[in-house]
Amino acid sequence: SAAEKGGYDYFMLKEIAEQPKAVADTLLGRIGADGRLHLDEMRITDQQLREIDKIIIIACGTSYHAGLIAKYAIEHWAGLPCEVEVASEFRYRDPILTRSTLVIAISQSGESMDTLMAVRHAREQKARVLCICNVNGSTMPRECDGVLYTHAGPEVGVAATKTFLTQLVAVYLIALYIAQVRGTKWGDEVFAMVQLLATMPEKVEKVLETMGPVRELARSLANERSVLFLGRHVGFPVALEGALKLKELAYMHAEGFAAGELKHGPIALIEDGLPVIVVVPPRAREVLHDKIVSNIQEIRARGARTIVIAEEGDDTVVPYSDTLIEVPAVPTLLQPLVATVPLQVFSCELATAKGHDVDQPRNLAKSVTVE
Ligand code: G6P
Repeated sequence: SAAEKGGYDYFMLKEIAEQPKAVADTLLGRIGADGRLHLDEMRITDQQLREIDKIIIIACGTSYHAGLIAKYAIEHWAGLPCEVEVASEFRYRDPILTRSTLVIAISQSGESMDTLMAVRHAREQKARVLCICNVNGSTMPRECDGVLYTHAGPEVGVAATKTFLTQLVAVYLIALYIAQVRGTKWGDEVFAMVQLLATMPEKVEKVLETMGPVRELARSLANERSVLFLGRHVGFPVALEGALKLKELAYMHAEGFAAGELKHGPIALIEDGLPVIVVVPPRAREVLHDKIVSNIQEIRARGARTIVIAEEGDDTVVPYSDTLIEVPAVPTLLQPLVATVPLQVFSCELATAKGHDVDQPRNLAKSVTVE
């Protein structure tokens, strides 16, 4: 009913709007007054975290994209090797698992069968398994050695939005906590990041306040056949997530690429008027930033219609952007929290313009409990 949707036409719109609160709730009680993280609730002891030598992340769909972002955070802050794999592939190869492997299963529902089967396989091989989950008492938290709950509240729309942002918060918390426990060369940075995480709800709110032009853009592209998404570093998984949302909701051909791969194939797809959405790393990441600005120039010279997501005040992209979407300036690793939001709004609005029910996209289920 309209009341359940809190006055919004769709649950998805309500859930997108709830993201600042979802992020805040997922941080709540986990940052101490001393600025240190407290995650004892995870049921994985600090001693166990000191003993791990490798992390493997398994997940499906949007949760898999959170896993891809986790890899960057874990390798950088925690200094541990980290692999990420779609859960449906995991147990059909021969993953190397030992007692010192930490497997992290990311699942909003805690019920996706592919992820659950991968969890069982990992536990049989004696790996320790931690899950990131949004549903209290669901199957995965019961079967895993530990759990870190996201506190997004119930998500009704089939396409994951607020649960994705809270999964990102959870993976940042875990990466930073492992760094805190094991002690890494990034001690000061870890401390600073924790403080910054606490400011993310207001940054996400700021993005939501500026979405008018994104909605307008989405409506103007409702009759396009294809949209490409480019990013690099953590912007690459953000590009994949943007493309997935557009497929799920608008039933449009959409693909995400690592911008560095452009020259190895995707650039052949560029033709006059093709919309390409580019996620630009912060200017502080100079090398990556400049490389992607060159990519934008290259595709624009070949006729692409460039839609650029960049941090506010980044003037270097202005001459090459047909549309510029500014997001608050944050460190690169945290940028997915702000850069994903315009992509959610974009797909939701475009799909709505095409007359689709964004809460119940055709052929999809909220939680897939078959393999
Ligand atoms: C389905 C949903 C997606 C979700 C995926 C994984 O495909 O439609 O939105 O990302 O399952 O779900 P999970 O509950 O494991 O995160």
